[in-house]
Amino acid sequence: MTTIEHVHAREVFDSRGNPTVEVQVRCRNARVGRAIVPSGASTGKFEAVELRDRDTNRFGGKGVTKAVNHVRTEIAQAMIGQDASDQQGIDEILCTLDGTPNKSRLGANAILGTSLAVAYAAAEAYQQSPVDRFAAIWEEHRRDLQPGSERPRTSLLGTGMSLPLPMVNMISGGLHAGRNLDIQDFLILPIGATSYRQALEWIITCYQRLGQLLNRDGYEGTLTGDEGGYGPRLKKNEDTLNYIVAAIESIGRTPGADIAIGLDVASTHFYDADAHTYRLNATGDAALSSTDVIDMLEGWVSRYPIISIEDGLAEEDWDGWRQLTTRLGNRVQLIGDDLFVTNRERLRQGREKQVANSVLIKLNQIGTLTETLQTMKLALDCDYWPVISARSGETEDTTIADLVVATGAGQLKVGSVSQGERLAKYNQVLRLEETLGDKAVYLGGGIFGEINGMSSP
Ligand code: PGA
Ligand code: ZN
Repeated sequence: MTTIEHVHAREVFDSRGNPTVEVQVRCRNARVGRAIVPSGASTGKFEAVELRDRDTNRFGGKGVTKAVNHVRTEIAQAMIGQDASDQQGIDEILCTLDGTPNKSRLGANAILGTSLAVAYAAAEAYQQSPVDRFAAIWEEHRRDLQPGSERPRTSLLGTGMSLPLPMVNMISGGLHAGRNLDIQDFLILPIGATSYRQALEWIITCYQRLGQLLNRDGYEGTLTGDEGGYGPRLKKNEDTLNYIVAAIESIGRTPGADIAIGLDVASTHFYDADAHTYRLNATGDAALSSTDVIDMLEGWVSRYPIISIEDGLAEEDWDGWRQLTTRLGNRVQLIGDDLFVTNRERLRQGREKQVANSVLIKLNQIGTLTETLQTMKLALDCDYWPVISARSGETEDTTIADLVVATGAGQLKVGSVSQGERLAKYNQVLRLEETLGDKAVYLGGGIFGEINGMSSP
């Protein structure tokens, strides 16, 4: 019933208008399963390789016809006749066929597209919803998960379906919005909301109010970055934090208790690896040491209701990361994105070095569904919060919405609430909230029970 009969791929386009890979897979006597691969802008050096044509006559070299052709030929040949219900077996075949450690031969885009389309094809063959299919696949990974008592921070996560706390971009900077602000994402986390729908309502209200406040003061409250966050020409990072706090208050919510702030510093992109220094526009382009950056972040944490900081330091600055974790690790969630790139080996290293307490999960950083789930399992075993994330280049594909609910990972980071490719995910979770009912509880800010000063709602 789940024997793969047909595999096909095509070049489609993402939210930046860049080409990307769509794969469709069909099992015998079943409907087609389909997935589209996203694409990052602030990519980490250690990510699996996205294969681009490099033919500058088409889309500035960003075409993906080579990756598409790999799916149509070599990959299709290897997939036809295989059992789509054996996700781990499928992903092993894909990795072996590629034969490189970073998927650079066939392309992580070709491989991930196939890996996910197989999961959807199996769901179609079983006449199962995607969330149920992903839950069944996760079940195989979570069998020997450390018991909750062994992982105090993440004890609520990973053992059954749950609805995620959304972490949503309000203001964009860095590579996503013309580098005007150094910090890539200023986000909010509605930790006091008691349902997913309420969380989303607070977020949307806050986002719209923030736009009005920026417009009122003559800033660009309607111009947005790649993920739909506003891209105002504010001069200082602190100005941004002040505007967000003002927006939270002006919708009648309490900063810190109802709605907390998160940052994605994405600091790799202003790090000079040779000189071991960070160059921020807001500090007049002065060269800062890791300790200077940590001092700055610690200052913000003490003055603003910040609960989460992603990539506070660069992907190769392990010593700095260790210091950051020692100083802030029991007060805020410290997420490794470029640092870990959803890679088990890098996460293992991080754990050994006692670095970070959370890992961003992006499927295309590692390139197969199985490896993504293995990294999530390791994160939970190490008591690190997993945060399932979109890329800045996204599409209507809703895999991460179903995946975060299916695995009970607890947090979802998708970007802002003004663009269809983002809303596709937020709306999918609304559907799941309704259809799953009691089968998927909303943990909300309760997942941060262990962070000092934060209490479960
Ligand atoms: P990216 O940004 O998709 O451009 O890498 C998202 C992030 O840094 O979290
Ligand atoms: Zn990031």
